[in-house]
Amino acid sequence: MKILNFGSLNLDYVYSVDHFAAPGETIKCADLKTFCGGKGLNQSIALARAGAAVFHAGFIGANGAVLKNTLTADGVDTSLVRDTDGPDGHAIIQVNSAGENNIIVYGGANRALTPEFINEAADALCEGDIVLMQNETNLTDEIARRGAERGAKIALNPSPIDSWLMENFPFHLVSYFILNEIEGAALTKETEPDRITSRLLSRFPNAAIILTLGERGAIYRDKAQRVYQPAYPARVVDTTAAGDTFAGFFLACVSNGQTAAVSLSLAAAAAAMAVALKGAADSIPNIRAVLDEHWKL
Ligand code: RIB
Repeated sequence: MKILNFGSLNLDYVYSVDHFAAPGETIKCADLKTFCGGKGLNQSIALARAGAAVFHAGFIGANGAVLKNTLTADGVDTSLVRDTDGPDGHAIIQVNSAGENNIIVYGGANRALTPEFINEAADALCEGDIVLMQNETNLTDEIARRGAERGAKIALNPSPIDSWLMENFPFHLVSYFILNEIEGAALTKETEPDRITSRLLSRFPNAAIILTLGERGAIYRDKAQRVYQPAYPARVVDTTAAGDTFAGFFLACVSNGQTAAVSLSLAAAAAAMAVALKGAADSIPNIRAVLDEHWKL
């Protein structure tokens, strides 16, 4: 069983600021660092560091070799990462003194996927594999349909949520919704966590819902069970990629036969470790470190 992640690959420009720039305000930053990121790349690395067999499918631009090399170094299969001549995807990230971030994403090569490429990548799928996607690439609807036709389970992290996805995505094909409260509220018009999961489950009764609540933890729901996992204490330096770490660890563990409760707990521990370090992919721990820390938390 493998996980095929049709995922974004970004160069992240991370600006350390005292506070976020307000409308009309010019601020100075104390530091600028460039990291590998993109919700797709971060999730592939989290999956691999959690022990899953991961194939990453996506496009990089003229300066994206470092993104592909970073995935390869973590044992992700990059035979479906293709070069293009266009600009790379990138993100402009402000991190404030509380470790919070705000992010602007430029799609670049991530939004140049073609139906031919998706068909070709889907040829690598076998019955029971998992197709993972976020909402930073184009053609997510095609990806889900081709994956389902091949007998794969569909895992959707609808981030960042937008009206196109809400109006066009074939949500009935999804087996795992991994989402935060903002995305849950957009999809259900509910704001209370249990109402969000209930509403999603009533629309998609065969799906599993994994709702992350930031420092309040996470909820897992399917038609047979509800599991609540509190967040572990964390020393917050930079929250970038905490959600991606959680998503990758949860999916790797649950697809490896762990229970929902164990998978949630390990994912929460990995996310708590990720926020203690700067950067996106660079901050994601591996499963050995998570297991070592887990019993102390
Ligand atoms: O989830 C964090 C990621 O969001 C960053 O790495 C950035 O590239 C954006 O995609």
